[in-house]
Amino acid sequence: MFDHIFKPLNLRNLVLPNRICLLAHRTNFTRNGRLNDRHIAYYRRRAQGGCGCIIIGELAVHPDDRPWETLIEVHRPEVVADFQKLTDAVHQFDTRIIAQLNHCGFQSSGYVTRKAILGPSAVADIVFGETCKPMEPEDFTEIVSDCDAVFDTVGGDVAERSFAVLKPGGRAAFIASGATAPESPRDDVTSLRPRVGRDRPHLERIAELLEAGAVHAPEITTFPLSEAEEAQRISESRHLRGKLVFEVR
Ligand SMILES: Cc1cc2nc3c(=O)[nH]c(=O)nc-3n(C[C@H](O)[C@H](O)[C@H](O)COP(=O)(O)O)c2cc1C
Repeated sequence: MFDHIFKPLNLRNLVLPNRICLLAHRTNFTRNGRLNDRHIAYYRRRAQGGCGCIIIGELAVHPDDRPWETLIEVHRPEVVADFQKLTDAVHQFDTRIIAQLNHCGFQSSGYVTRKAILGPSAVADIVFGETCKPMEPEDFTEIVSDCDAVFDTVGGDVAERSFAVLKPGGRAAFIASGATAPESPRDDVTSLRPRVGRDRPHLERIAELLEAGAVHAPEITTFPLSEAEEAQRISESRHLRGKLVFEVR
């Protein structure tokens, strides 16, 4: 039964020296999101004992992933140096170490994050019992960051949040926030209000690009005039793509 346990094993481009593997698990050693000397001593001892492979778990890839407090926050740049120390310690022995990157989805705790848990729909997780907030298009700042440019055609709350997703030096252009550009809450990005008056040369250029297939016109949604109320509601929701056209007869 144990004929192979001390034989090497190929794992894609890794060669494990044996088949003894310490599987991913929580240690509860983490403090303030950082891997520390206690982790290093713990994993080093396993490597010293002859473990061929260590999988290090509980690594959170996003600040919202907080089922409990003792997760290592690998989305923070400063943890790279901590991991360097860990790999140096483990590689003193013939051991490979693998990082298990993880996001527990809406299995998280608002008690730890002090904010709503985002999820696909408002259901309670069976373990944590917390009902998540369904993610809306307005929550885009959670998944977009470091953009060179933003072109906002919606205005209001979406315009205000747009600044948060720009990288330093980034530029945001707004055409639905009044005649002037909204004031930027950041001094390292630029807020612009381009002129969008109608003019023939630009319209002709767009028509050319359309004919060449370089750009595509968004779809047109048609409504009978009797459903104008519903159309108005959709228009006010500010998430309609393309044009809304009424069939009058
Ligand atoms: C406290 C604890 C935490 C665990 N955390 C993880 C984890 O973060 N990722 C994972 O893939 N498995 C996790 N597991 C599952 C273990 O890696 C392993 O698959 C499981 O314990 C079965 O192996 P065993 O019979 O040797 O205990 C965890 C298990 C325990 C007991």
